[in-house]
Amino acid sequence: MSSFQSAPGTVLITGTTSGVGLYATKALIDLGWKVITANRSPLKAEDAAVKLGLPFRCPNQLDHIYLDLSDLNSVREGVRNLLDSLEGPLDALVCNAAVYMPRLAKPMRSPQGYELSMATNHFGHFLLIQLLLETLSNSKRPVWQGRSWSMESSRLVMLGTVTANYKELGGKIPIPAPADLGDLSGFKQGFADPISMASGRRFKPGKAYKDSKLCNMITIQELHRRFKDSSVVFSSLYPGCVAKTKLFRNTPKIFQWLFPLFQRFITGGFVSETLAGKRVAQVVSSPEFGVSGVHWSWGNRQRKDGEQFSQKLSERITDPETAKNVWDFSMQLVKAN
Ligand SMILES: NC(=O)c1ccc[n+]([C@@H]2O[C@H](COP(=O)([O-])OP(=O)(O)OC[C@H]3O[C@@H](n4cnc5c(N)ncnc54)[C@H](OP(=O)(O)O)[C@@H]3O)[C@@H](O)[C@H]2O)c1
Repeated sequence: MSSFQSAPGTVLITGTTSGVGLYATKALIDLGWKVITANRSPLKAEDAAVKLGLPFRCPNQLDHIYLDLSDLNSVREGVRNLLDSLEGPLDALVCNAAVYMPRLAKPMRSPQGYELSMATNHFGHFLLIQLLLETLSNSKRPVWQGRSWSMESSRLVMLGTVTANYKELGGKIPIPAPADLGDLSGFKQGFADPISMASGRRFKPGKAYKDSKLCNMITIQELHRRFKDSSVVFSSLYPGCVAKTKLFRNTPKIFQWLFPLFQRFITGGFVSETLAGKRVAQVVSSPEFGVSGVHWSWGNRQRKDGEQFSQKLSERITDPETAKNVWDFSMQLVKAN
């Protein structure tokens, strides 16, 4: 237990109607944070929160805003409304929402025409980050350092995954293919119909998810490179295999039944939603996690009282030239400038 204690602040978290985001909301409220959730259905988010016993209609503790990550106009409008209503700066942003649609026969498209998993998981979050960097860098959260107070860095936390990290066994699984952005020709060609993959190659829906998560993890590394002297700590985490969440709703029923058992009894990788939520909350709030550029993991095989560590990342995530190009193309495609 660290003797460093920081004051709770205000955090925005995307995708809290279920799973990791919902339980992270609970864990952060338990730590005294004010949580603002961003969802395409704030009512569904409120309902899920109420069912978990979280505060109802107490905007000082928990508030819900409308923001559909798949639609760049909605991201812009959601941020405008948020910034108008915030009384002080935002102290943390958690990019959690995601869609995983491994059985699509052909790509679905966002309102801007981009392939839907890349649009939701990467482009929506990428724009959200650009629009919130300034308020995050204005955060002033006190931290007690044993003898005196100082200022805690704000946090920008991304949910990453083992399946996007080629350095780990889970990142090498060939079904349908490991995450790989190729020569980025999908980005270069504008990502709109008929383009559906970052590499510009044939649509593989399961890989489209992995590629979008790879972009999420690249974004954190690039933010760290570009803004390492800022007061924002940029990090990602793999919370473990939270095999029972609704993320897997589009997989075959037999998979949904077997996957949690496989993770619990064969790989030992199974993590409950409660524990995953607590891990996110730790990365947001604990001074121990105040190191920028780190991808936090507790390992693939979960151990009782296992400690977090900085997971090594594959070159596909850390290569500065790829990251710069992904950043530049993403800036153009979300029209953030
Ligand atoms: N489960 C795991 O084993 C695991 C492992 C590693 C990393 N992760 C990561 O953890 C994060 C959360 O996943 P989860 O397992 O908790 O999945 P989940 O239960 O399906 O939660 C995903 C959330 O994203 C929201 N969402 C989807 N599309 C959205 C949109 N267009 N705009 C705003 N919100 C949207 C969903 O809301 P709706 O109700 O509106 O669909 C839902 O609240 C993801 O980033 C995932 O990649 C999960």
